[in-house]
Amino acid sequence: METDRLVIAAEPANPLGERAPAPTAPGPGGGGSASELFDSVMRYTPELFQGTREALRESYVPARLPHREHQIRQVAEVLAPALKGDVPSNLLIYGKIGTGKTAVVAQVRSDMLKRTDLKHRVTFVTVNCANVDTPYSLLQTIGNALAARESERIPTGWSLDRVQAAMRSLLDAREGTVLLVLDEIDRLVARSGDGVLYTLSQVNTELAQARLCLVGISNDLKFTNQLDARVRSRLNEEKIVFPPYDAPQLADILKDRAEVVFRVGVLDQGVIQRCAAYAALENGDARRALALLRLAAEMAERDRAKRITPEHVVKAKSRLEQDIILECCRTLPSHCKVLMYAILQLFERRREGLQTGDVYAAYARLAQRLGLPPLHARSISNYLSELENLGLIRATIVSRGRGGRTREIVVDVPVSETIPALQEDPLLAPLGRPRGQSQTVLTNFDNPNRTGPAN
Ligand SMILES: Nc1ncnc2c1ncn2[C@@H]1O[C@H](COP(=O)(O)OP(=O)(O)OP(=O)(O)O)[C@@H](O)[C@H]1O
Ligand SMILES: [Mg+2]
Repeated sequence: METDRLVIAAEPANPLGERAPAPTAPGPGGGGSASELFDSVMRYTPELFQGTREALRESYVPARLPHREHQIRQVAEVLAPALKGDVPSNLLIYGKIGTGKTAVVAQVRSDMLKRTDLKHRVTFVTVNCANVDTPYSLLQTIGNALAARESERIPTGWSLDRVQAAMRSLLDAREGTVLLVLDEIDRLVARSGDGVLYTLSQVNTELAQARLCLVGISNDLKFTNQLDARVRSRLNEEKIVFPPYDAPQLADILKDRAEVVFRVGVLDQGVIQRCAAYAALENGDARRALALLRLAAEMAERDRAKRITPEHVVKAKSRLEQDIILECCRTLPSHCKVLMYAILQLFERRREGLQTGDVYAAYARLAQRLGLPPLHARSISNYLSELENLGLIRATIVSRGRGGRTREIVVDVPVSETIPALQEDPLLAPLGRPRGQSQTVLTNFDNPNRTGPAN
């Protein structure tokens, strides 16, 4: 791949002539009217993308999967007996998130289905168990995927036994092998146990014509511990582990996409490498690498920039981290949100480990301001453990000489970005006054003797 072409090419010729007009309105976050901003957006000619930007999205199916050739071959080898009408071994595929498991199986599936000579020998059914995670919905979904006519579909409302029997006869109506891919199979087991997997793993003994082969995909290496020994050994007949991508591999994946999406010359040297390096540190997750590149391009567009630079990647990274933290905060119970907010404010001011007593006092004041009766210190102690488990804070035991040992709390997320973002939560919105004022209020709360602003 001549990726250098992308990186070091001279400035691209702009078909519309000059550089895109500099925005006359301030960028997002500045002052000015919305209508001025819209004017400037309309005048800006995006120069970064060529055609569609689809190829940076999760749903895009790339033409090839660099650095997964070996795994594609391994999966194909396990499933190949189906081509000759034999039943392949059941297969479990493991690997951390974003290591290409779903993409590889989809690629093998599409290569197999391209062989029209195999039309009646192999049927693929793919179910994402993140969405379909009960025995009932799973059996119904499989049955309906196999139904040839509308009248054969399994309606909702039947008993589980009836759904199971109907699914079995729809399965047996197929010739050859049905390859059932259960993506995110660990979610099914976590939600519903392994009963339905037991049913599926021994269904072949009840079929006259068809044969079922199970392909489970999981990023949780431990989920098989929850399986009954018989189910585990049946599912685990073959096992393939996907290693995380390293930075050069991620860079190759990104270069492929960049060639499809960006105009020649718009990527600064080092953009791809930086996205790849960040994602390699995050478990070698290709999804993360692609998200960084997409966001970096969006940041550049927002700046009305002509090129995407490594600085845009840095901004994209901090934005992504913020999104992840926020998603995490968003799911917290109300009092836990208030507690997190109190910790952030206190930590921002003191910049040192916080005593749990101070944290509790700050939480109680904020809760009262919001009209919430504060919870007892014991409940707050449980919430502190929860925040620690989520990686949002860290509690350390500090020895204080004769004063004994005490627990101190530090914040593990970027404070200055998380506070304003949390203020967008409707629950915490009343606290979201301009930063200076908000600090003044807190300072005065903390030290009733002070009446003036904190600084
Ligand atoms: N080798 C590769 N070449 C090109 N794109 C890839 C490659 N590996 C992964 N991707 C892309 O990265 C994203 C994540 O890949 P995929 O969904 O297959 O990961 P996964 O291992 O199934 O992750 P999860 O465990 O979270 O489900 C997808 O958009 C996919 O197209
Ligand atoms: Mg997947």
